[in-house]
Amino acid sequence: MSILVTGGAGYIGSHTCVELLNAGYDIIVLDNFYNSNRESLKRIKEITNKDFKFYEADIRDKKALEEIFKNEKIDAVIHFAALKAVGESCVKPLEYYENNVGGTITLCQAMKEAGCKKIVFSSSATVYGMNNHVPFVETMTTGGTTNPYGTTKYFIERILMDIYDSDNDWNITILRYFNPIGAHESGRIGENPNGIPNNLMPYIAQVAVGKLECLSVFGDNYDTPDGTGVRDYIHVVDLAIGHIKAVAKALESSGVNVYNLGTGVGCSVLELVKAFEKASGIKINYKIAPRRDGDIATCYADASKARNELGWIAQRGIDEMCEDTWRFQKNNPNGY
Ligand code: NAD
Ligand code: UD1
Repeated sequence: MSILVTGGAGYIGSHTCVELLNAGYDIIVLDNFYNSNRESLKRIKEITNKDFKFYEADIRDKKALEEIFKNEKIDAVIHFAALKAVGESCVKPLEYYENNVGGTITLCQAMKEAGCKKIVFSSSATVYGMNNHVPFVETMTTGGTTNPYGTTKYFIERILMDIYDSDNDWNITILRYFNPIGAHESGRIGENPNGIPNNLMPYIAQVAVGKLECLSVFGDNYDTPDGTGVRDYIHVVDLAIGHIKAVAKALESSGVNVYNLGTGVGCSVLELVKAFEKASGIKINYKIAPRRDGDIATCYADASKARNELGWIAQRGIDEMCEDTWRFQKNNPNGY
């Protein structure tokens, strides 16, 4: 079976490519390198000792997509390509809607024309918004997102569901990721953010390696056990394996399926700092800072649907997530 992976040079995409190749799938990778580079593709080949086709292309470029679908036999698409910086999306909403929503529409048009009707889409726990109570369950009302990035995910989910309603031959699989962290155990691929990281784990890792001075802990007066924000951190390799299970099911059936990919376990900012210190042997300098706008106190998944229907459970704990992040950061202090 042959899978087109959009955004396959990026953080989650590259780890998923490794797992797809290891599972025996043929892959075709598409990326415009907006937030990644060729080196990750080289390293996927090095880790797996397997080759694959790559197209440097943009998901908004209909002609390029038509060409790919004409040249390749594609059974399903795993669609990672998107812009993902929450703060930037507030400054550049049009770019986010054009790239994420517009790009997905163009991709789906090209898929429809080529008769490829199976798509696994990267959504986010952010679609649960500010008003639901943990643990988040797939049946909860979505929306109420607090930034354009989150709203693109909400809109795309709705668009994909409408596509299914119009044509029941499609398989639409929506994966709502919680907080992906960690790296491949080889230390060869990992998260490689541009500029100063917005997310907690890459920030901690860059403090550890000496690139940043001090972590600001955004709020210590939340209604959580230690007052700091609680999230459901999930190892990126577990997340990647979730895609393998999801695409296998999608290849066999049609329908709309939504799955949370999380561990179901919450971890606070200070707990993650402690775990990282243990994994790296380095003291993380931090200070308490005001809350960050748009943050909720606690976010974790009810992961039982993915367990029951996909037979998927996250296997790797916080210590392994920190050890693997540290190995990648230490070996690649300046990224790829
Ligand atoms: P990433 O930025 O590392 O990867 C995205 C890839 O898509 C990059 O390689 C980028 O160059 C490419 N891309 C972007 N726009 C493109 C376009 N128009 N045409 C072709 N390629 C394009 O991000 P990631 O962390 O790997 O995230 C992958 C997906 O998962 C995204 O859709 C993201 O919104 C979603 N997601 C990520 C997280 C997270 O914490 N990392 C959480 C929830 C959801
Ligand atoms: C963020 C995004 C969310 C996106 C998710 C995964 C925001 C508001 N939300 O979620 O839309 O789906 O990433 O990409 O950006 N923290 C600090 N100091 C830091 C950074 C973070 O204390 O320097 C805290 C946060 O307040 C939060 C926790 O660490 O409690 C996790 O933050 P982060 O890694 O940014 O993820 P989310 O906020 O969960």
